[in-house]
Amino acid sequence: MLYRVIYAAEALGATGTSVLSLAQILGVSERNNARDEITSRMLIHAGQVLQAAEGQRGDLDRLQKRLMADPRLGDLRILSDRPIISRSFTETMGLRRLSRGVADAVLAGRPLWELSPSQAEALLDDSSQPLSAVA
Ligand SMILES: Cc1cc2nc3c(=O)[nH]c(=O)nc-3n(C[C@H](O)[C@H](O)[C@H](O)COP(=O)(O)O)c2cc1C
Repeated sequence: MLYRVIYAAEALGATGTSVLSLAQILGVSERNNARDEITSRMLIHAGQVLQAAEGQRGDLDRLQKRLMADPRLGDLRILSDRPIISRSFTETMGLRRLSRGVADAVLAGRPLWELSPSQAEALLDDSSQPLSAVA
């Protein structure tokens, strides 16, 4: 049985802003997620992280433990954790950003962890843009 877990957290220190720090996170995540057959998408916005991970229960639980213990993340909150019929993501670690318009419309100044489960799902689906779209 496959599950999708979505969590939000604070990106502490240089986590959300430094290219080197992001590259390190992506490198480790891609290696581990490929090993664990986890597909994932992550959004970094205004010092916060929103990540969805899809995979088998045990692999997701082990990932969650590692994330909870990671000093680069603060105040991690699970927004949604549910069984799914099939994966939505193909990437092991897809990095996305929010367009200004979507951030303003959906978040309206609220932090990412106040999103409802369906809003979090929607943000990670189509309304986010690949990070390479950053001007
Ligand atoms: C924002 C953020 C997202 C992360 N996402 C993942 C992930 O999807 N998969 C993963 O294995 N580690 C992820 N990590 C790293 C873990 O917290 C942890 O450092 C790592 O899994 C340890 O792997 P190792 O035991 O192979 O060194 C993430 C870290 C941060 C800060």
